[in-house]
Parts: sequence; structure tokens; C-alpha cells
Amino acid sequence: MSLARARLGEKVKDYRHGNFSDTPFEDQNPLGFIFLDLGISSAHFDYFERGFSFRFDQKLDMRMDVTRGISAAKVLAVSEEQELARIFFEYGEEKLSRRIAREIVARRKINPIETTSQLSEICEKIYPPKYKAKGHAQRHPATRVFQALRIYVNGELTALEAALAALPQQLCLGGRLAIITFHSLEDRLVKRAFRNLSQIEQNDPLARSNFLPGDFQQIEPGGIAPTDAEIAENPRARSARLRILERVR
Ligand SMILES: C[S@@+](CC[C@H](N)C(=O)[O-])C[C@H]1O[C@@H](n2cnc3c(N)ncnc32)[C@H](O)[C@@H]1O
Repeated sequence: MSLARARLGEKVKDYRHGNFSDTPFEDQNPLGFIFLDLGISSAHFDYFERGFSFRFDQKLDMRMDVTRGISAAKVLAVSEEQELARIFFEYGEEKLSRRIAREIVARRKINPIETTSQLSEICEKIYPPKYKAKGHAQRHPATRVFQALRIYVNGELTALEAALAALPQQLCLGGRLAIITFHSLEDRLVKRAFRNLSQIEQNDPLARSNFLPGDFQQIEPGGIAPTDAEIAENPRARSARLRILERVR
């Protein structure tokens, strides 16, 4: 929040520190515009030294908010092998999740895995040389495991699901909920939630709850992708997708 305050200063009247799944601006209902820019910021990579990237040798913490939850190193230290494999597969779509989990469990008996370089080295060891031959060279073998651990440690998908359930009802007539996603797992959740809200059928559970058919529409249902110029200027935007839901009634 300090970075936001430093950048936006008095332009913003009300700064609140909290998880968007707790809907921190509920007392301001109804809202005209809600914008979620998901994931982690460049500052997390370049500034906070919490082990979000395998490019720098740092302590394996990966928490966006260090006042909550447990660190990634703690997860690697206490989780069962099967649970580690589930985390890597479910939140990173890592095909070698079982082998990497097995290696972590074997290594931690000798030395705790506490740094990004230790974890990255394990992933590199597990990935067979032919991996490079298959033309995946541009993706580092540790990419998916790091994404998976980060999503798990911060409960990112659970928070997003809670926000998708709560935020649409905070919109005023004509109000919009805009969300930028950065990977397929979160994009799938937003796409499905917005589609369901914009296609409510009479017999749909959502209709029985608090919305009626025609209450919402999607602006650009396919989502908005970054332009080539944007990607050239900010390569981190390449996987971004903007999705917008509007309350029309
Ligand atoms: C992609 S960055 C936002 C970058 C910002 N829009 C900018 O232009 O610098 C996402 C931010 O959202 C925060 N964040 C991610 N998940 C969150 C959640 N569930 N609740 C609150 N903040 C969250 C992260 O800590 C990070 O600072």
C-alpha cells in the first residue's frame, strides 16, 4: 500500500489494506467501478526480496502479505510428498510434479530447502536434457513450481473465487467489474464467472440467489489481450487478459 500511496498520493481519498476477498469497500456500496489487477507486481520481483523468482537467490517466502499465512519454505518443509505433488500439478500444471515432490522430500531430510536457488536447482535436475530438445528452452524448468507455490502460499485462487462471488452484487446500475488475469488458471475462473452471470437462465441457481437473467453483460466476452506494442514495452504483460462485466439492471 505504501507504493500505491507514494505513486497516487492525494488522488486517492481512501486507502485500505486488505484481501479483496474480504470486500474491503463494502461500506461504499453500490460501486461504479471495481478493478482487480491480479497476481504480483513488478515490485515483488524486483524490490521485495521474498523469493518470488528463481532469477535471484533469495529466501523462499513468496507471501504477498507477510502478516498472513506461512512461507513457501515452510510449505516445502512440512507438506507430505503427495500434497506437494498436488500443489505443483493443480496450481502450476507441472507434469513432473511427482518427481519434483519426491526429490524435495529426499533433499529436505539432508538440508532444509530455504532458498530460491535450492528449489530451482532441484527442478533443473529433475527436468531431462531432452526437455531442451523439445523446444521448451524459453521456459525455465522451475517456472511452474514457483507459480504453483506462490498461488498456494497466497491462496490466490480461493481469494479470487470469493471476490467473484461477492463483488458483482456491489456494482451499481451501469457499474463495471474489470479484472486483469495473468495465467490460465485465474483466467478460467473469471471467464466462467462472467459467462454465468451474463447468461443467467431462469432455472439457474444464480437466478434463485440474487440475480435475474439480463442483470449483467460482458464487454468484449472474449477478453482483451495486450497489443504487440504493449508487450514490446512490458513483456510481463504478454499473458495478461482483461475481462469486463457490466451491471445493466
Ligand atoms: C499486478 S499487481 C498490481 C500492479 C498495480 N496495478 C500497478 O500498476 O503497479 C497486483 C497487486 O495485487 C495484490 N494482490 C494480489 N492478490 C490480492 C488479494 N487477494 N487481495 C489484495 N491484494 C492482492 C498484490 O500484492 C500486488 O501488489
